[in-house]
Amino acid sequence: MKAIIVRQPGGPDQLSLGEWEKPVPGQKEILVKVAATALNRADTLQRRGMYPPPPGASPILGLEMAGTVAALGPGCTRWKVGDAVCGLLAGGGYAEYTTIHEELAMPVPNGFSMEEAAAMPEVFLTAFQALYWLAKLKKGERILIHAGASGVGTAAIQLARKIGAEILVTASAPKHAVCRKLGATLAIDYKSQPFEEAVISFTSGEGVDVIIDFIAAPYLQPNLNCLRTDGRLVILALMGGIKVENLNMLPILRNRLHIMGSTLRARSLEYKIRLTRDMMDFVFEDFEKGSIKPVIDRVFDWKEVAEAHAYMEANKNTGKIVLRIAA
Ligand SMILES: NC(=O)c1ccc[n+]([C@@H]2O[C@H](COP(=O)([O-])OP(=O)(O)OC[C@H]3O[C@@H](n4cnc5c(N)ncnc54)[C@H](OP(=O)(O)O)[C@@H]3O)[C@@H](O)[C@H]2O)c1
Repeated sequence: MKAIIVRQPGGPDQLSLGEWEKPVPGQKEILVKVAATALNRADTLQRRGMYPPPPGASPILGLEMAGTVAALGPGCTRWKVGDAVCGLLAGGGYAEYTTIHEELAMPVPNGFSMEEAAAMPEVFLTAFQALYWLAKLKKGERILIHAGASGVGTAAIQLARKIGAEILVTASAPKHAVCRKLGATLAIDYKSQPFEEAVISFTSGEGVDVIIDFIAAPYLQPNLNCLRTDGRLVILALMGGIKVENLNMLPILRNRLHIMGSTLRARSLEYKIRLTRDMMDFVFEDFEKGSIKPVIDRVFDWKEVAEAHAYMEANKNTGKIVLRIAA
């Protein structure tokens, strides 16, 4: 089959269309003819050789996909050949065919294109896990979502709106309109004003109950300062660095704060299956009604994969970048 190959660890120019062995579905796995996949930051790290796939996963890039069931492995009962599915992968999405455990596959919601279905799994599962399972965000609470215009950020805004939380985001200024349209009450241009100042002023000194963070080190102190009593901080990425100096830990004790971190890719199959079920129970109807949707910035043909990676690494996207897979 055709697949995107990383010739050598390095820049986007190392990506090209090549040949790879077609995967064979194992016990309880289905073979999917991929119609579209979507980019994740992890793909850019893996391309550089800095984020190896977990043991047993395909070395091909691609953490999510949508397509049609092409064959069933032994013991499969849930799907039939021709069904439209999408889902989270541990790798292997940038290819004509991929395999997925049948319980990890989700039906493509009515009204979703294959591109939208491919853009949904990683960001909605990540945001759902962060908001519901980890932060336990409740109606009437206030949440600050950093990188609000990112793929995960745009999903988190929509889920927080469904819960009935008040939503504050940080994003670069040209991306504010999208964040507001999705449900953010306040969009902070963190490049022109320290976000802590904006949060404290907007909330009249109260702060927020939950923060979803991707920036890590340079944001840790202001994040702690922005959390009110019993506040929860969920760290999902380390885009700004990992080492903090001169941290004032007083807010942690004074305000009884909870600090959590998580990565989805490393979770067990059982965990991902439970998360997939819970997320779909919660949001599937909204997907079908069209009231919640993945935000897509651009769809690239998979021959333009190098351009797509460069586009993400330049932080140009608002929402997801999708690759259309053509046979
Ligand atoms: N832990 C998990 O389970 C999990 C799961 C999925 C993704 N992630 C991680 O979550 C992060 C967001 O993923 P995504 O796919 O939603 O990202 P994305 O769509 O590529 O968006 C990232 C955005 O973050 C903003 N940003 C702010 N500060 C940044 C900085 N220091 N470096 C780079 N970007 C910065 C940029 O937007 P502005 O122009 O607004 O600054 C950028 O466009 C990634 O690091 C990803 O690896 C974690």
